[in-house]
Amino acid sequence: MILETERLSLTPLTLEDAPLVYPFMSDPEVMAHWDRAAIEDPDEVAAAVAAQVAEMAERRALYWAIRHAKSDWFLGYCELVDLDWRHHRGELGFIIAREAWGQGYATEAAAALLAHCASSLGLKRMIARTHVGDSRAEKVLEKLGFEQEGYLKGHVDRDGERRDCRLYGLLF
Ligand SMILES: CC(C)(COP(=O)(O)OP(=O)(O)OC[C@H]1O[C@@H](n2cnc3c(N)ncnc32)[C@H](O)[C@@H]1OP(=O)(O)O)[C@@H](O)C(=O)NCCC(=O)NCCS
Repeated sequence: MILETERLSLTPLTLEDAPLVYPFMSDPEVMAHWDRAAIEDPDEVAAAVAAQVAEMAERRALYWAIRHAKSDWFLGYCELVDLDWRHHRGELGFIIAREAWGQGYATEAAAALLAHCASSLGLKRMIARTHVGDSRAEKVLEKLGFEQEGYLKGHVDRDGERRDCRLYGLLF
C-alpha cells in the first residue's frame, strides 16, 4: 500500500528502514518533545522498529515511512497508535528529520494519512498530544484541523521527569 501526495510517498515502515530512522531518533533536538529521549544505540532503534512492525501485524498501530517521491530521501514517519477499531479512533504522531523541518512535509504527510484513515480505514476520530512548548507540532495540528480539547498534567514519564501534554482532537 502506497499513499502518494504532491511531493511525498508514504509506505508502511519495515525492518529495513531502521538504519534510516536512527539518524533522527538519535538526535536530541528532534526528540526534545517526544515521549522517549533520544536513543544512542542503533540496536535499540532497530528493536523499537521491530516492535513497531509487530504492532502493525496485530493491527494495533500503523507506522508510515515518509519519503521524498523524486529523490527517495527518507524524511521521517507518521504514526497512528492506540488504534481502537470498536470506537473507530486512534492517536496521530509525526517525526521528521531536523534538516527537513519547515518545508510543510509533516503537514502534507499527515493530511494524506488522515484522508486514508477516513476513507479506507473507517476511522471517525483522531487524537494527538504535544508536549507543552512544542509549538511546531501544535502548528501542524492546527493546520490539519485539530482543536485543543484538554491539558494532561504529568501525562508522560520521560526518564523520571513528568511532562504535561496538550490534548488535541479531530472528528471526521
Ligand atoms: C513537529 C514536526 C513533525 C514538524 O515537521 P515539519 O515538516 O517541519 O512541519 P511543517 O513544515 O508541516 O509545519 C511546521 C509549522 O511550524 C511553524 N514553525 C516553525 N518553527 C516554529 C516555531 N519555533 N514556533 C512556532 N511555529 C513554528 C512553521 O512555520 C510551520 O507552519 P507554517 O506552514 O504555517 O509556516 C517536526 O518539527 C518534528 O519532527 N519534531 C520532533 C518530533 C515531534 O516532537 N513530533 C510531535 C509529536 S506529535
